[in-house]
Amino acid sequence: MKGVILAGGTGTRLHPLTRITNKHLLPIYDRPMIAYSIEALVLAGISEIMLVTGGTHAGEFLRLLGNGHEHDIDRLSYAYQDKAGGIAEALGLAERFAADEAVLVMLADNIVERTFRPTVEQFAVQGGGARIVLTEEHDPVHLRHLGVPEFDDSDRITKILEKPDEPPSHYAVTGIYCYDPDVFQVIGNLEPSGRGELEITDVNNYYVDQGTMAFDILDGFWGDAGESIDAYYAVNDFVRANGANKG
Ligand code: G1P
Repeated sequence: MKGVILAGGTGTRLHPLTRITNKHLLPIYDRPMIAYSIEALVLAGISEIMLVTGGTHAGEFLRLLGNGHEHDIDRLSYAYQDKAGGIAEALGLAERFAADEAVLVMLADNIVERTFRPTVEQFAVQGGGARIVLTEEHDPVHLRHLGVPEFDDSDRITKILEKPDEPPSHYAVTGIYCYDPDVFQVIGNLEPSGRGELEITDVNNYYVDQGTMAFDILDGFWGDAGESIDAYYAVNDFVRANGANKG
C-alpha cells in the first residue's frame, strides 16, 4: 500500500499566517505540521509516500524533507497541484505514483494521538473497496464543518453528508482514507461541487453506494489544525501536553 499526503490548499482559514507560508509548514509544538502526517504514515507501516502540494511555498517542503530518509521513508515523491481544485483533485495527481496499488490518503492538517495502523491492516484483508476513519464528535457546531456519516440500524454507513446543517450522527469523517486502485477512475468521473471542487465526500459516497465502504472509529484525540485559528491552537496545546502518533 502506498501513502499520499495532501498538503495543498490556500489555507484561507488561517490567514494572514498562510500569506507567507504553506499551512502545513506552520509549527505544531516543536515541529512543522507536515512532520506529523509523515510520522503517522510511517508508523502505520507505509514507506513509499507522495506529497501533493501547491502554491508559492512548495519548494520549502523539499528543503525540509529532502528524500525523506531522515523520516524513514524509502521513497518520497512530490506532486504539484496547479489550482486549488479540491481534495479529490489533489489525490488524482497521485494516479501514476500509485501504479495500481491501494492508497492510504491523509490530509496533512490532521493530527492524531494514536496510530491508525489497525485500519491499514484491516484494509489489507478487506479485499478492495474503501475504509475511512471516523471520530466521535458531540458538538453540532463542529460537525457542521465536517463530513458526517449517516448510519442504518445495523450500523452501516448509508450516506456521508458534507458540512450538514443537521448532522445525522455524532461522528465526523477524519482526513484519513484507504482506497483500492479504482479510486482514480471514480475521481475521473466526478463533477465539481457547488464550491467548484472535486469533493472527497463524493468519492466516499461512491463506495458507500457500491456497498464496499468500511470504517473504524479512531482511538484518542483527533484534530484538524487547519480548520480555524482556535483549532490550530487547540491542536498545539494538545500535542504539547500529550504528544501525538503514539503506538
Ligand atoms: C475535509 C472533508 C471533510 C472532512 C475534513 C476532515 O473538509 O471534506 O469531509 O471531515 O476534511 O479534516 P475541509 O477541510 O476541506 O473543509
